Amino acid sequence: MTLNIPPSTASTKADFYQDLELQVQGIVQGQRNWITNLANVSSLIYHGLRDATGKPINWAGFYVLDQSVASSTNKEALILGPFQGRIACTNIEFGRGVCGTAAAEKRTLLVKDVHEFPGHIACDSASNSEVVVPLVLDGRVIGVIDLDCEVTEGFDETDASGLETVAKILVAACDWRGVV
Ligand code: SME
Repeated sequence: MTLNIPPSTASTKADFYQDLELQVQGIVQGQRNWITNLANVSSLIYHGLRDATGKPINWAGFYVLDQSVASSTNKEALILGPFQGRIACTNIEFGRGVCGTAAAEKRTLLVKDVHEFPGHIACDSASNSEVVVPLVLDGRVIGVIDLDCEVTEGFDETDASGLETVAKILVAACDWRGVV
C-alpha cells in the first residue's frame, strides 16, 4: 500500500486541524493496525502543529491501556504508545498525572501551566503546558492523546476540539487488539 497523504500547508491552527482531520482519515484508509496508525498520527501532529503555529511543541503521542497491569492488579493503567519527541515515562496509573487524570475522569484536560497541576509527571523538564484527550471506545477509556509544549498556554480550545475529533476517528478506525 502506498501512502498518499498531502502535507498540511496550513498557517493557522484552525486550518491545521481541518487538514489534520482529512489527513487522519487518509492514514486509516485500508489500515486498521493501532500501532501503525498512532505512529503516523503522532508524526502528523508533532510536525504539522509545529510548522503551522511556530509553537515549540516538544512531545506528541499516545498512551494506551495496559492490559497486563489491569489483569494482574485490577488497577487500570496506561503504557507508553507511539509518539514523537524525547523519551517519556512508560507507565501511568489512572488518576496520576495529567494523562492518568484525563483517563480516570474521561475528559479532556487543557493545562496552561503544568507546574500548577498537582501530580503532574515531568517526563521532560522543558514542558510547560499540556493537553490530554481521552480515547473512548464503547464508553471505556482505552488510551489518551498527549501533547506537550515548551511555553505556558501552549494549547487552547481549538487544540482540544481538534484533537477530540482525531480521537473519535482513530477509535472507530483502528483494530485495538492487545489494548482491549
Ligand atoms: N506529563 C504527563 C506525562 C506524560 S509526558 O508529558 C509525555 C502527565 O503528567 O501525565
